[in-house]
Amino acid sequence: MLAMAPKVSGSAQAVPHSRIRELAEMAMGMEGVLKLYFGESNVPTPEYIKRAAIKAMTDGYTFYTENAGLPTTRRAVARHYKELHGVELDGEKEIVITASGVQALNVSIRCVLDPGDEAIVLTPAWPNGSAIVRMANATPVEIAHPLAGDRYRVDLEALEAAVSPRTKLLIYTSPSNPLGWVATEEEQDGLLEFCRRHGLWLLADEVYERLYFRGGRPGEPAPSILRKASRQDAVIVVQSFSKSYCMTGWRLGWLAARSDLAARATRLNEFIVSHAPSFTQRAGETALLWGEKTLAEMVARLKENRDLCLAALGNMPGVKTPKPDGAFYLFPKIEGVTDSFEFCRKLLVEMQVGIAPGVAFGAGGEGSVRICYAAERTILEEALRRLKRFLEQPAARV
Ligand SMILES: Cc1ncc(COP(=O)(O)O)c(C=O)c1O
Repeated sequence: MLAMAPKVSGSAQAVPHSRIRELAEMAMGMEGVLKLYFGESNVPTPEYIKRAAIKAMTDGYTFYTENAGLPTTRRAVARHYKELHGVELDGEKEIVITASGVQALNVSIRCVLDPGDEAIVLTPAWPNGSAIVRMANATPVEIAHPLAGDRYRVDLEALEAAVSPRTKLLIYTSPSNPLGWVATEEEQDGLLEFCRRHGLWLLADEVYERLYFRGGRPGEPAPSILRKASRQDAVIVVQSFSKSYCMTGWRLGWLAARSDLAARATRLNEFIVSHAPSFTQRAGETALLWGEKTLAEMVARLKENRDLCLAALGNMPGVKTPKPDGAFYLFPKIEGVTDSFEFCRKLLVEMQVGIAPGVAFGAGGEGSVRICYAAERTILEEALRRLKRFLEQPAARV
């Protein structure tokens, strides 16, 4: 008799397919699509960073490194916090270099959740947080950011109602993908107090920290939660080189956390990726050291793109777009749309414009779409013209 065919694990089956990917995969098989669905620009990594990677390889950075990353890279990240936020971190004990922001999320979540635990996730949010919680055999409890006028906010009452004896973690993203919402100081205080009172870990995804428009100058960071938290607080910050330095393909990030969590994440790293690639880490140090001018130019350009898109969307009937303070996304709500995936599919097929469906971002996302405005102006202008034409068709809103 044949043995029963083995199946993939229940926890692997519980992880849903990314609906952003699903749409992108359709677009990849098509010609002439204006692609605004992924969170990246078409600007290549600056030359000085590429040269640093080549030099690092030539200098012998081709071997294994420490699980927590090269001491020089950790020190560079600690310096970064001192300079940008006035926060003193111990690079050796409180920082772990990771092979991307996603990996930082992964190892952090793995360190704080046991099977059966719950994690509150503020949404609409990039779907990976909730998916990684599922991969840990735990349950994401999604709480939507309510929209008050032109601004999203944090619903502390809903958070209180969502806490159960199994809740161990709260995840939020600021600046947010897809909302562009940036937590105010008051909201940071509220979240921190909430987590302290309930004995929860607070995980702040701050990968868009440098793409912030409310500062006095382009490149000024959105305030990190680390300015508010003490080093004894159960706080984890997830970071990445992807967005600030146009390094999406390099897979380099870090986490900053209480020293016991950082030590545990270091230990787990051995069994996940061991460490981030050695020459990539060296290139990351160079990015932190010399990246300010390019970064400021990029943020100024992004702000112009944001304003251009906001103005164009403002002329489309039934389209309501909260003004974002950070990241590089707009999340317009489109009157009459109840199936954002179908709306985006039709827009793709009929107009060759690829944007991400709001439903991909969890609770509170349906009825909206995400537009990444990191592309060149000419692409954005043409995409918005096509979106407007599409919305003028009576059957467009599904
Ligand atoms: C909110 C958020 N967190 C983390 C990441 C991960 O970035 P990476 O894995 O490229 O470092 C992304 C990427 O899109 C993101 O949008």
